[in-house]
Amino acid sequence: MNATTLTSTYQLANGNQIPVIGFGTWQSEDGDQAYNAVKWALEAGYRHIDTAKIYDNEESVGKALRDSGINRSEIFITTKLWNTDRGSKENTLKAFDDSLNRLGLDYVDLYLIHWPEPAALRDRWQTANADDWAAIEDIYDQGRAKAIGVSNFRQTHIDELAKTQRIAPMVNQIFLNPGDSDSELVEYSKTKGMVVEAYSPLGLGELLNNSIIAQIADKLGKSPAQILVRWSLQKEFLPLPKSTHQEYIKANGEVFDFEISAEDMAILDTINGTTKQHTDPSTGNF
Ligand code: A2P
Repeated sequence: MNATTLTSTYQLANGNQIPVIGFGTWQSEDGDQAYNAVKWALEAGYRHIDTAKIYDNEESVGKALRDSGINRSEIFITTKLWNTDRGSKENTLKAFDDSLNRLGLDYVDLYLIHWPEPAALRDRWQTANADDWAAIEDIYDQGRAKAIGVSNFRQTHIDELAKTQRIAPMVNQIFLNPGDSDSELVEYSKTKGMVVEAYSPLGLGELLNNSIIAQIADKLGKSPAQILVRWSLQKEFLPLPKSTHQEYIKANGEVFDFEISAEDMAILDTINGTTKQHTDPSTGNF
């Protein structure tokens, strides 16, 4: 892997650069919690922040960005289209405008369809995805989203969208960590030209107590969280670690001064299947 700092980037299919670690904000509450988390992340050197309409913290994220005084062009911001705003081009365009307004921005760096099969659209997810993606392509053409992609898409959703898309999704953001490493979907997404973003790279915190990870962490003099973020980078994923604690936020970004050996990477591969699996988009009840 070539990444050496929090400002190292991967290249998206359209040539845009995306910082190799994003700061996750899922389950950070709007108000002081999300505001401080993003503030501390920016102070620690993160330049990529991942939010979503459904996280209900876009206002605090946007305020922290503005208050940081960092040039907009130096920060990469992602937000996502939520299920209840889906189902027509008009709804999608309005949801995007509302997100921009809450963030207080005039563009985002990446806009994603958050979920491929919302329960309310399950009987027509194919046309819903096609229509909403067409709206997102228009947003991209207007320069209001500098890159566009999907989240939680499985192969069937990727293939179905490909039948109608003008522009291929540039990112697939999925639940991805050593406990649920889904290598088939990763490989498939990559063959379609997508950067694979790993949400819940710490297994929602569950993997931090895993004894195999703890042993490797002890050996390298690092924390389990640092091992997990580094594992993701060495797999060439784009991890999105989330924390609300300043010391964790800082430490989770300090992963460029050590390497997990090929042998230990192979040992980490054996954990696959041991944590709570991702929600199946075809059966999730939201
Ligand atoms: P908190 O937000 O209270 O700081 P994931 O990124 O996989 O979703 O995991 C996030 C969970 O892991 C959160 O509960 C977060 O706690 C916790 N966490 C994040 N970084 C660390 C760390 N360095 N040490 C311990 N727990 C952490």
